[in-house]
Amino acid sequence: MSLQVFLETLDSLERQAKEQFAGVVDANDLERLRVEFLGAKNGLLKAAQKQLGAVPVADKPAAGKRFNEVREAIESLLEETSNRLGGLPVAKLTGPLPDCTLPGLPPHLGHLHPITQTIELLKEIMGRLGFTVTEGPEVEDIWHNFVALNIPDDHVARDPADNFYLQPIDKKKSDEAPALLRSQTSTVQIRVMETTKPPIRIISLGRVYRPDEADATHYPMFHQMEGLWVDQHVTMAQLKSVLRMFATSYLGGDVQIRFRPSFFPFTEPSVEVDFFWNGHWMEFGGAGMVDPNVLTSVGIDPDRYSGFAFGLGVERLCMRRFGITDIRDLYRNDVRFLRQF
Ligand code: DAH
Repeated sequence: MSLQVFLETLDSLERQAKEQFAGVVDANDLERLRVEFLGAKNGLLKAAQKQLGAVPVADKPAAGKRFNEVREAIESLLEETSNRLGGLPVAKLTGPLPDCTLPGLPPHLGHLHPITQTIELLKEIMGRLGFTVTEGPEVEDIWHNFVALNIPDDHVARDPADNFYLQPIDKKKSDEAPALLRSQTSTVQIRVMETTKPPIRIISLGRVYRPDEADATHYPMFHQMEGLWVDQHVTMAQLKSVLRMFATSYLGGDVQIRFRPSFFPFTEPSVEVDFFWNGHWMEFGGAGMVDPNVLTSVGIDPDRYSGFAFGLGVERLCMRRFGITDIRDLYRNDVRFLRQF
């Protein structure tokens, strides 16, 4: 085939394409023309490309150049026409139509962290037992973290190795200057009793901080649920009833509760609280009758009022419930882990 004839074929192909694409009115038309001109097997351009093989070798560069021009022109026609029809996706038209009956992919929704879920549930259970929720600051002073809680100056609980002090302990500084990250939520008992007259029935849930080495059961930040009930004639029997009702709601009907004698400066008598659950006794925190010295320090008459208090570990409660065995997993922020709960 001479170069002349080949070029004429290409000219006519281009003319034909211009005319036909101009008349396209819908997606079906467009697809038909795409196959007719650009179809990979039997398209007109493909046929022209085959004829290119028959052009004399010396004319091939010129013939090839013109062929490419015409091919690009027709591809542009396809795209322009698709745009004219409102941006039909040309690429999609080449494959099979999508199957609209297939189920969609659900988007991933976030959810509450297991500790937050636990806190919400604890508030709900204790709310049903008549306890209202209070909050206190995480940056505390010596008065609320120690002094008012009857923890003497030389007590080991004040050791700098066991607390996150924010500045050197300066004896001359006021007890009420910000001094440390609270090491216990018992601070909130003091804050509430300072501002509220009995009857008082509150819980407070929040973070506490201790410089412990992290391992499967320790972490330098964790959560506690503090409880306080102060009124006339509050007794240890009520403490045990409240904690048993709490444990039954939280852990399930078959839970048992045990008190072991213990010591805390702010309660007298003091106990450790164990729950028997899934075949084991497990310690969940401490409790006791509010020490008269504590009541006196906040201006409540210990001869008229008595109270009980307790502090439970929220991580322990959470981990038991969800079957989590390493506290560090709660704070690695690995969504593959957290998504399970
Ligand atoms: N504050 C104690 C702790 O962090 C726990 C505790 C024990 C809280 C006895 C109380 C209590 O309210 O009565 O180890």
